[in-house]
Amino acid sequence: MPDDSALADAEWTALLEARHRGVPGAGPLAALFAPLLVPAAAADGCVVIGRLAQTLDGRIACANGASQWIGGRGDILHTHRLRALCDVVLVGAGTVHHDDPRLTTREVAGPNPVRVVLDPQRRLPVTHKVFSDGAAPTLLVTSLPGAARHGQAEVVVQPDLPGLLRDLAARGLGKIFVEGGGRTVSAFLAAGCLDRLHLTVAPVILGSGIPAFTLPEAACIGDGLRFRWTPHVIGDDMLFDIALDRVKPGNQVA
Ligand SMILES: NC(=O)c1ccc[n+]([C@@H]2O[C@H](COP(=O)([O-])OP(=O)(O)OC[C@H]3O[C@@H](n4cnc5c(N)ncnc54)[C@H](OP(=O)(O)O)[C@@H]3O)[C@@H](O)[C@H]2O)c1
Repeated sequence: MPDDSALADAEWTALLEARHRGVPGAGPLAALFAPLLVPAAAADGCVVIGRLAQTLDGRIACANGASQWIGGRGDILHTHRLRALCDVVLVGAGTVHHDDPRLTTREVAGPNPVRVVLDPQRRLPVTHKVFSDGAAPTLLVTSLPGAARHGQAEVVVQPDLPGLLRDLAARGLGKIFVEGGGRTVSAFLAAGCLDRLHLTVAPVILGSGIPAFTLPEAACIGDGLRFRWTPHVIGDDMLFDIALDRVKPGNQVA
């Protein structure tokens, strides 16, 4: 199989233009990115894509939170491409606490998305880069009313994920990239709020660590969510593109 992380500059520029025009792109990765480029099908007006890089045994980080890097160079490039093609990059508080990410598109040409951090209990200090580096507009989403700003970030009080998607769409932010961690991607899946999942699997076994998915308990294998997937080779890793179409655990269509 060809390496799908090896994208010529001209092909990447064409995808950025397709995003701008709201049409499906052309070229080798058009099918992978097209769902992000066309108008949303969901009533809330959003296209939501979740992404994780996991080990063969389903871990996204060591038990101490170290996660850099589970995926290789191809996965890093893919992640930055998703940031550039979306209006929003969204992460959970655990990811900001452990990684202190900037969430910019510095590995590829393209605009920085608006950064959204979910911190229900407002536990994160303002010293994190996303709240202080000025690299892109940032929203802190919480369940607790309080100060209207958190460092340079605007505070949004919204405890509900479907409500958050409606709020973001009302701001003109309809392409939502949920970059991690596991609890945050799982929360979007459990709420039936994911259109697509891009799951990178790296040839690594940890045997311990933070899990990729935590969902309501399944009593038998048939209760698990089962999907069709399209595999892509990205360097030494495999990327699985999965159409979730807003399915919820316990609510799947046969
Ligand atoms: N491999 C990958 O693709 C990937 C991607 C992103 C992140 N990661 C790694 O995944 C880990 C985080 O994932 P996750 O599933 O644990 O969390 P997450 O989805 O990033 O964030 C969800 C929860 O983190 C909790 N949290 C934990 N420690 C916190 C702290 N010190 N301050 C504030 N909130 C905290 C909050 O819980 P409360 O509700 O209790 O406040 C929050 O609701 C990190 O180790 C990160 O490096 C890996």
